[in-house]
Amino acid sequence: MSKTNIPIPTIRPRRLRMSAGVRRMVRETTLTAADFIYPLFVTHGENVRHPIPSMPGIFQFSIDQLAEETAEITALNIPAVVLFGIPAAKDPIGLENFADDGIVQQAIRAIKAAQPDLIVITDVCLCEYTDHGHCGLVQGDEILNDATLAVLAETAVSHANAGADIVAPSGMMDGMVAAIRAGLDGAGFANMPIMSYAVKYASAFYGPFRDAADGAPKFGDRKTHQMDPANGREALREAALDVEEGADFLMVKPALAYLDIIRQTKEAFPALPLAAYNVSGEYAMIKAAAANGWLDEKKAILETLTAIKRAGADLIITYHAKEAAQLIMDNG
Ligand code: PBG
Repeated sequence: MSKTNIPIPTIRPRRLRMSAGVRRMVRETTLTAADFIYPLFVTHGENVRHPIPSMPGIFQFSIDQLAEETAEITALNIPAVVLFGIPAAKDPIGLENFADDGIVQQAIRAIKAAQPDLIVITDVCLCEYTDHGHCGLVQGDEILNDATLAVLAETAVSHANAGADIVAPSGMMDGMVAAIRAGLDGAGFANMPIMSYAVKYASAFYGPFRDAADGAPKFGDRKTHQMDPANGREALREAALDVEEGADFLMVKPALAYLDIIRQTKEAFPALPLAAYNVSGEYAMIKAAAANGWLDEKKAILETLTAIKRAGADLIITYHAKEAAQLIMDNG
């Protein structure tokens, strides 16, 4: 090999990677426990701590388990949880969704009694409560948009009455943010923020969640309301509408296959806090590979969450929240 024609570099990016100390100084993205929102599945019964097979480490909890679970979450400095309820019975409207003694309403009160400073976000959607499993009211095989809005508003008000801090509509109905805003304002909750699942795709990565929350559609799919994974520009239209309707937070979901969408949404709406949902299938992939010894689980978790934040997310809803918060604590 001839040495003559190979220029010696004078500019060397590697200089800033030579020691852990310098690497730490030039690190652009830092995760903290304050970035995380931890999903909790709540169910009827007593002493229930029911594991979700496709989501190792995640459980459905009965109300009596929530004090202990939220004490752990709080001790890890995680600021917020998002609640999903499994109702006692399902019907075409999803009556338990907005019942004063519904499972989520009970959970909100129990968590607020145990951990008053833990922020309680509630998912507002019909799919876990309806017998057909759809995110809206159904007529024949059509998912009705406008008739669903009143149910969403009533559910949000019911969560607010129970003491929730933030409502998060996830059903991708047109006008859902405006409907919920009007409902909350009319009921005296003008100060309650709305975290809108503004940009939510019809994704295969929700599979394990549908086991966890028992919310799979009994016929058809969600493609008439959730977005086509092929579309990026449409995400900005969805986000713009939700901003106009009064959303206080935006969300992109899922996260990993949509890092470009997270970046574009953040750049288009820099002033709104942006959440990304690191969904069940994304969690299951890491858990399955780690269980087989195919990757280093701890590193994969931190790399994944760091990438979501680097892409532009201010907050990450993640089933890894507890383990990631622990790792951040251990790493100092
Ligand atoms: C709907 C809802 C879903 C998820 C959160 N809210 C399921 C769906 O839209 O089918 C998925 C979350 C996950 O996969 O972790 N209420």
